[in-house]
Amino acid sequence: MQTQTNQPVTPLDAAAIRADFPILNQDPGPDRKPLVFLDSAASSQKPAVVIEALDDYHRRYNANIHRGVYQLSELATGRYEQARHLVADFIGAASHRECVFVRNTTEAINLVAQTWGRRNIRVGDLIVLTVMEHHSNLVPWQILAEETGAELAHVRLTPDGRLDLDHLDDLLARDPKLVAFTHVSNSLGTLVDAAEISRRARAAGAAVLIDGAQSVPHLPVDVRQLDCDFLAFSGHKMLAPMGSGVLYGKKALLEAMPPYMGGGSMIRKVELTRSTWADVPAKFEAGTPAVGDAIGLGAAVEYLNALGMDWVREHERDVVGYALERLVEVPGMTLYGPLDPAARSGVVSFNLGDIHPHDVAAILDGENVAVRAGHHCTQPLMRELGVVATTRASFYIYNTREDVDRLVEALHVANRIFGLA
Ligand code: ALA
Repeated sequence: MQTQTNQPVTPLDAAAIRADFPILNQDPGPDRKPLVFLDSAASSQKPAVVIEALDDYHRRYNANIHRGVYQLSELATGRYEQARHLVADFIGAASHRECVFVRNTTEAINLVAQTWGRRNIRVGDLIVLTVMEHHSNLVPWQILAEETGAELAHVRLTPDGRLDLDHLDDLLARDPKLVAFTHVSNSLGTLVDAAEISRRARAAGAAVLIDGAQSVPHLPVDVRQLDCDFLAFSGHKMLAPMGSGVLYGKKALLEAMPPYMGGGSMIRKVELTRSTWADVPAKFEAGTPAVGDAIGLGAAVEYLNALGMDWVREHERDVVGYALERLVEVPGMTLYGPLDPAARSGVVSFNLGDIHPHDVAAILDGENVAVRAGHHCTQPLMRELGVVATTRASFYIYNTREDVDRLVEALHVANRIFGLA
């Protein structure tokens, strides 16, 4: 695949994309089928251009940033800040200053809870979440509610795993201070109408935080179109190294927030008993950041830009649509979430009869099909579904319909082993 071109690739190129991912092209060894990687919702694979960007940083210009007056440090600083510009353009931010580099989505949400939250949330205030949130968009608010005496309420789901917008409206009528919700469920794959929820929440006077961990890698996301106050996402789910993540925040909000961590880089002037803060985003980037990882994120964004996020979305819709069609053929199959591929992103969760998801995943691993099994960091959602766990296949740019066929064949093997078919 030529990453220099801005021409969208055709669906036929999905197989060509695999050639860019060294891990997908390894010799699986004797008696092992080629790897089908269906766990990108946990962490995506990395294309050679990202691996090389990280390697190049460490080989040629490894140095701390924003400190040195020597050439290596200036080069590293330039590439780190260039990555910030790439990320800002990727999500349609008005300014690169609105993008704070963090380790991951979890850190981004905790940052907002502990800074904006502590400054703005008081006893009796309402924070609206949903029952399908990842623990990373539940626990930070529980900690804040415990500290402040705020109340938490959760938007219910419809039977097919979408948000119940009538229930949202009921909760908005109680004048919440914040509505924080996932754009795409990491367990169900449900694609939420984030622009509409944001519009309703803002009309009710609430601030809006969107967990974009499962959306920014998979579909076009524009923070100005969403009109959200905060968007949190992780680099490692969008082809970049682990350790790279982003908190987007509207500049006026970031400027009004107190710092999260204190230390080097985030200050303007330090005295023995008090200090003043650097401008955003440096105010939130205390200490030496993950420079190489951020540069890797910049390379990942360039790679995705070359594909075109419209293409990424369309490709996944095709593969997921095919997966939904084929999975219903498997005896004992229970699928979770909406059955319409237009209402989903790249995640399909299921159970197979009463076989424990860990057993299903182990049998799939024997067929060299890598999936996740468990509660997917969504224990309240599992309770809502009435299950302890699911098996989850998650798809990305390098997956094809042939991967779906391999998944289905492997599920038939599981059924045969457990005597279901
Ligand atoms: N949040 C990641 C997942 O859903 C780890 O698998």
